[in-house]
Amino acid sequence: MRFHLVAAPVILAVFWALALVQSLDFQFPNFTDAARDQLILSNSYIAEKAIQVTPDSHGASMANRSGRVLYIRPFRLWSKEGKKASFNTTFVLNIKNMTPSSGEGLAFILTAYRDVPVGSEGQWLGIVNPTLNGSMEARTAAVEFDTRKSFPGDLDDNHIGLDVNSVYSRTSVSLNGSNIYISSGKDIKVVVRYDGENLTVFVGEDMDNPVLSEHLNLSSYLPEAVYVGFSGSTSNNTQLNCVKSWEFIGSEIEDSKLRWVWILAAAGSVLILLIITGIGAIFLHRKRGCKVDRLDDAYRNIDEAILRSSIAPRNYKFKELGKATGQTERDDYISNIVHRLWELYRRGTILEGADARLDGIFKKEEMERVLILGLACCHPNPNDRPSMKAVLEVLTGEAPPPDVPAERPVFMWPPKPPSFTEWDNSIIGDRLPPISELAGR
Ligand SMILES: *[C@@H]1O[C@H](CO)[C@@H](O)[C@H](O)[C@H]1NC(C)=O
Ligand SMILES: *[C@@H]1O[C@H](CO)[C@@H](O)[C@H](O)[C@H]1NC(C)=O
Ligand SMILES: *[C@@H]1O[C@H](CO)[C@@H](O)[C@H](O)[C@H]1NC(C)=O
Ligand SMILES: *[C@@H]1O[C@H](CO)[C@@H](O)[C@H](O)[C@H]1NC(C)=O
Ligand SMILES: *[C@@H]1O[C@H](CO)[C@@H](O)[C@H](O)[C@H]1NC(C)=O
Ligand SMILES: *[C@@H]1O[C@H](CO)[C@@H](O)[C@H](O)[C@H]1NC(C)=O
Ligand SMILES: *[C@@H]1O[C@H](CO)[C@@H](O)[C@H](O)[C@H]1NC(C)=O
Ligand SMILES: *[C@@H]1O[C@H](CO)[C@@H](O)[C@H](O)[C@H]1NC(C)=O
Repeated sequence: MRFHLVAAPVILAVFWALALVQSLDFQFPNFTDAARDQLILSNSYIAEKAIQVTPDSHGASMANRSGRVLYIRPFRLWSKEGKKASFNTTFVLNIKNMTPSSGEGLAFILTAYRDVPVGSEGQWLGIVNPTLNGSMEARTAAVEFDTRKSFPGDLDDNHIGLDVNSVYSRTSVSLNGSNIYISSGKDIKVVVRYDGENLTVFVGEDMDNPVLSEHLNLSSYLPEAVYVGFSGSTSNNTQLNCVKSWEFIGSEIEDSKLRWVWILAAAGSVLILLIITGIGAIFLHRKRGCKVDRLDDAYRNIDEAILRSSIAPRNYKFKELGKATGQTERDDYISNIVHRLWELYRRGTILEGADARLDGIFKKEEMERVLILGLACCHPNPNDRPSMKAVLEVLTGEAPPPDVPAERPVFMWPPKPPSFTEWDNSIIGDRLPPISELAGR
């Protein structure tokens, strides 16, 4: 249906915009095969309900290995406007030595790179290799759990450290004083907090006294978006480097400029929608709804204009729409989306309509507001769609979403009450089929 095709940019603009402002928020109480889809594993494995950052005893040789596991979606750390995100992450480590003395260590990392660097085994903990070490190119920050004194500057074989673009720690603290032994094979709970200014690490159950707290401006070293996860390594000395659970809660950066871009994009689409509805109605009124082909052409041209216009968000969905070979196919696609959304709304589960690619990473209230608004814009009766002002108010969060009937309303012709032109029922008559049928093929 044409309305849907026109309303689609509104919905898509909004999905696109939500993808820009989304925050990162996830939880792994344990790691099963299902977790694989959400992780980037680079020489790391899932086994025994845990991440084996370096191979466990069942696989290949455990010596001289490095590995890296990252959450699949990057985290937006800062914006060019000077805003900074904050995060809290909690994980449980279990490290057990497999040789008389342990080696080498495990680290929580924020990094620009998906893959574990070649040559990062041994003392490098999978964080950097000899070439990247000490260079701005390394673009990696880490909290290391080091189990081997592998070079003279290394504190001891049981310490944590804060590493920035290097495996040589800025600060390191022995855990001997806290009576925690990293490679003991016991579960160790760790909390890392970053508030945009200080990075703070708690180890064990004591949440009052951080083991390490350091002023750190991550924006100076890391790109705007980073992957978060773990790296680890072994040498001649080996250990099991397990992560048993992991939770991450990141704040979102609201980029006011981008926000306005998408609000304008959505508003522009609504404006076009209203104009087209007006044109369509006037056209029908004049031609008594008979010139189906010309109406069809008019709509198609406008569709294309929207798809081409610079105000329309050029994003993946349009590419997909473009791939659909025929107009009909494209219409059906969008029509199905709207029907599906309305059905979910009726059942009170509209959030299931959110794009699967967002992985559930969005503000639920915001997404719900936007989906309901999208439905309101798809109301078959143009006069029941929200005004531009109302749309803007909902998008900016000033007003709640409009009331939308639980059942998808039936199209009424003429729409009541007419607002943009004067109707003459005697001309249009009752036998006129709904516009959706006129416009369809
Ligand atoms: C393992 O994690 C899944 C979710 O990823 C959860 O449903 C399940 O209860 C967890 N099992 C245990 C034993 O914690
Ligand atoms: C590990 O690598 C070192 C050189 O970096 C080498 O001397 C040693 O033999 C290797 N160990 C194993 C078990 O492969
Ligand atoms: C992290 O935890 C602290 C202390 O509980 C809290 O004040 C802060 O808001 C949390 N940050 C995020 C991003 O959740
Ligand atoms: C690694 O980088 C640090 C600077 O962060 C430097 O002091 C150290 O010498 C480097 N080590 C090697 C082996 O290149
Ligand atoms: C911590 O204890 C280990 C032995 O368990 C020892 O080798 C190391 O030197 C100690 N670290 C410090 C800083 O005293
Ligand atoms: C960061 O740490 C410094 C020094 O401990 C402290 O003065 C400052 O208030 C901390 N900043 C925040 C945002 O907690
Ligand atoms: C942090 O680093 C960025 C990039 O170097 C800089 O623009 C910003 O002013 C710094 N923030 C603080 C608080 O020093
Ligand atoms: C590692 O072990 C091999 C023998 O397996 C030995 O030749 C080599 O020197 C050791 N390397 C280190 C760095 O300890």
